[in-house]
Amino acid sequence: MKQNIIDIAYLISAIMFIYGLKRLQSPATARKGNQLAALGMFVAIVATLFIQEIVTPVQMIIGVVIGAGVGAVLARRVEMTGMPELVAAFNGFGGIASALVAGAEIAKVLSEFRHDPSLVSHLGGVDAVTISLSILIGMVTFTGSFVAFGKLSGKVSGNPISFPGMRVFTVLFMAGAIASIVWMVLHMGDFGAAGLWLNPMVEAGIAIGFAGAVLGILLVIPIGGADMPVVVALLNSYSGLAAAATGFVLNNTALIVSGALVGASGLILTNIMCEAMNRSLFNVLIGGFGGDSGGGPSGATSTEGLTVNSTTSDDVAILLSYANKVIFVPGYGMAVAQAQHAVRELAEELAKKDVEVKFAVHPVAGRMPGHMNVLLAEANVPYDQLFEMDEINGEFETTDVAVVIGANDVVNPAARHDKSSPIYGMPILNVDHAATSIVLKRSMRPGYAGIDNELFYNSNNQMLFGDAKDSISAVTNEVKAL
Ligand code: TAP
Repeated sequence: MKQNIIDIAYLISAIMFIYGLKRLQSPATARKGNQLAALGMFVAIVATLFIQEIVTPVQMIIGVVIGAGVGAVLARRVEMTGMPELVAAFNGFGGIASALVAGAEIAKVLSEFRHDPSLVSHLGGVDAVTISLSILIGMVTFTGSFVAFGKLSGKVSGNPISFPGMRVFTVLFMAGAIASIVWMVLHMGDFGAAGLWLNPMVEAGIAIGFAGAVLGILLVIPIGGADMPVVVALLNSYSGLAAAATGFVLNNTALIVSGALVGASGLILTNIMCEAMNRSLFNVLIGGFGGDSGGGPSGATSTEGLTVNSTTSDDVAILLSYANKVIFVPGYGMAVAQAQHAVRELAEELAKKDVEVKFAVHPVAGRMPGHMNVLLAEANVPYDQLFEMDEINGEFETTDVAVVIGANDVVNPAARHDKSSPIYGMPILNVDHAATSIVLKRSMRPGYAGIDNELFYNSNNQMLFGDAKDSISAVTNEVKAL
């Protein structure tokens, strides 16, 4: 009876997770989707409290209170631009939790054995594999995520790090991990005659954990800081796989389902990001692109000798006020400047003057998936004004003014034709097809890809230099005065 109630509760929570994920598809329903998934997790936690196998309900409640408290404080404090590193840290904690739970399962089995050896006769190869995978993937996720966290937060150099013989070292540790898993399978349930704490099974567990920890570091250090969001999505997927493996260890359906959902959605997200950047996952993982060393304009496209037109907020205000149609193109600089509220205000002022206003959102604008959607939603920009790249790209030709707010790579026409450009083949927003384009940024410095942008030198393009928030506010004041 008790088991039936638990199974039904897990089924309900799985349904809530799936519906929650589905609702994350659109900014209009994302908040509700998140709440539904959180409710699903609450149902799963309450059901788990009934099982009380490894820890007591009181210990679990203490864990939930501490975990939820820390999570709530972090989520409130974190800046939008710091979100990828927070997600990296959360993935890391997910990974270590899976590894520790698998380790606790070994400890539990061992203590049962010491109590009554006949209790552990059911252990077999499948248990050994699930426990091993839970420890291995969990530890890779833990150390890999904290290296990613360090790189994103600037505590570790964002440049790709490598050393001679690193690949050989990595292969050796992979071989060591596989050998330890085989050792675990061969010695599952072998606690020695006396049931000592240090026995072949525990040794195999420690070796797998150590190999996983080193592999996590080796896999992430060669990757450039700016590629970290892709790696974080991948590590997110790993944390799901580790959780699913732990679900098999504990025979816990909710953990298997939620882990599989996280694993699959993390992989889908990784793939979407790679496709939107026109890079293969292999290319990202071998690293070397987008370190934090910056560097000046260096694009493969030669812009030497070309000049840019710079403009003023007064002129931009006049251009916008007398336009029929304006498309705003936000990018990473809007997040840095926190200009989203100012942009919404300008859009409202223009709408009062009967200007048709739309927002074009590139899938990898900013530094994390959905970065621009989240910022614009936070500023209450109506969802029906937000358009994905494929929906809006054809409209630039009939647009009077395209206003680029701190975006750079995602509007660089070199991606279409310059085969030597690192962003060649990446789909871009066709800002250069608008009658006039205006680019708001502080300098001629390049964006994430470290290359110059030929859009800036077009005769119908004007640069409005300065912090995006200050520039937009100045334009809005002028528009109001017109
Ligand atoms: P970027 O190409 O990185 O350009 C951002 C621009 O914002 C910079 O050129 C910078 O110029 C400007 N900027 C910075 N702070 C500013 C401020 N306070 N005011 C005004 N401008 C400011 O951005 P993007 O076009 O959004 O492209 C995103 C890039 O990140 C792509 O290459 C993409 O592949 C990559 N990426 C994205 C993701 C995801 S998931 N979104 C993940 C990994 C990598 P100044 O310094 O001159 O101001």
